[in-house]
Amino acid sequence: MPPPYQDILDHILIDSERLQRRIAEIGNEISEDYRDAHSLVMIGILKGSTLFLADLMRQIRVPHMIDFLAISSYGSGARASSGVVRILMDLRAPIEGQHVLIVEDIIDSGYTLDYVLRLLSTQQPASLSICTLLDKADRREVEVPIKYVGFQIPNAFVFGYGLDIDEYYRNLPFIGVVKDGVNLTQEHE
Ligand code: IMP
Ligand code: MG
Repeated sequence: MPPPYQDILDHILIDSERLQRRIAEIGNEISEDYRDAHSLVMIGILKGSTLFLADLMRQIRVPHMIDFLAISSYGSGARASSGVVRILMDLRAPIEGQHVLIVEDIIDSGYTLDYVLRLLSTQQPASLSICTLLDKADRREVEVPIKYVGFQIPNAFVFGYGLDIDEYYRNLPFIGVVKDGVNLTQEHE
């Protein structure tokens, strides 16, 4: 059993109210930007983006569909991904001719999203953009173009609101910073 979150939480970085306020703002922006798009599909990257996608789509007032892509990236160290990315679950429906918005929890080194972008761009979408809740820009190793960012965050390992530690704590309604010394595994999903 994992310890109660209070034991591994250093501090709350973004509380639930701030998350929801910012998500409403992004939802408004997306609703404006895609007002005339004939077909919008939001693709959630599993599993971390599930809470974000669920809250974000409720703030979007243009017709849209959702789909999911499950990706796994391995790190050489617990807090880094190495660029070795693989697909665990592919999209259900083709995206050819659709306006695609990728919805991600966090961009760290950028390797995962770089891979996803290259993969999806071969499938002739009408447009392809990225929306991420969190951006750890200091850690970027490969440039990825991001259209919507919820929050820029410092270089610390965070959890909650979809982001896990060993698959737990995704249900927390806030983003928290993990205490120094908590053991983290090598596979991100
Ligand atoms: P990237 O490929 O280095 O950009 O990392 C992408 C993936 O690593 C994200 O989709 C997350 O699943 C995971 N990740 C990166 N930083 C964190 C963190 O601070 N907490 C939890 N997961 C993270
Ligand atoms: Mg992820």
